[in-house]
Amino acid sequence: MPVAELLGVTKRYGPVEALRGIDLTIEPGELVALLGPNGAGKTTAVRILLGLAAPTSGQATVFGRPPASYEAKLRRGALLQVAKVPETLRVREHIELFSSYYEKPLPLQETIAAAGLGGIENKLFGDLSGGQKQRVLFALAICGNPDLLFLDEPTVGLDVEARRALWARIRGFVARGGSVLLTTHYLDEADALAHRIVVINQGRIVAEGTPAEIKTRGASTGLEDAFLTIMKDTEQAVEEVA
Ligand SMILES: Nc1ncnc2c1ncn2[C@@H]1O[C@H](COP(=O)(O)OP(=O)(O)OP(=O)(O)O)[C@@H](O)[C@H]1O
Ligand SMILES: [Mg+2]
Repeated sequence: MPVAELLGVTKRYGPVEALRGIDLTIEPGELVALLGPNGAGKTTAVRILLGLAAPTSGQATVFGRPPASYEAKLRRGALLQVAKVPETLRVREHIELFSSYYEKPLPLQETIAAAGLGGIENKLFGDLSGGQKQRVLFALAICGNPDLLFLDEPTVGLDVEARRALWARIRGFVARGGSVLLTTHYLDEADALAHRIVVINQGRIVAEGTPAEIKTRGASTGLEDAFLTIMKDTEQAVEEVA
């Protein structure tokens, strides 16, 4: 059974068709990277799988259950693109609070270590740097010991070293059997982490494959080049239909 699935999912916001019929599955132990330009529908797909938005049509399941169900929520964690947590709580207080929502959370020290928060666990969230805040949000995503992680642009604003450190933590999570849906605009990140890349444009899946397969779509061997080729091809196709 896939850990998460979208079947024929559409999402309409008034006149905007954010998703126009998406089929997406994430298998156990798989890291899927969702790529696509601004406004393609990536965050919409993530929000539907988190039960934060309902599909207009089609079906979404997480561990075979509705995404908003308690069973699904207990087994997943998320780092959202625009996440806000109170500035007046300390790092460890945030983790303790979030951990209390779950039945089998990780031990506090394990979460602190896994998110690279050692030494700053007693600081107020509001006193942290942007990169440190991002690490706290990652800690909140993993503290419940989830089987599935949703990471929506998790490394935005991180310096090179911090990005690489987060990559290592994500790889560690996958190595322990976890599944991940990652969105990113950093194509080197998708290349470094993903088993499978799904490219969406204007609410439709326009390419899918391993990083190596996707790269064959470009004139050179780079993923960025292949991505631009796919975007150009699919935009032409959309114009021809219109
Ligand atoms: N709550 C909402 N109400 C109205 N329109 C929305 C809402 N959420 C998303 N949209 C629209 O749906 C489309 C897809 O947005 P989405 O956030 O899924 O894109 P994205 O691929 O995550 O883009 P980005 O790379 O910029 O994060 C956009 O046109 C956006 O304006
Ligand atoms: Mg987004």
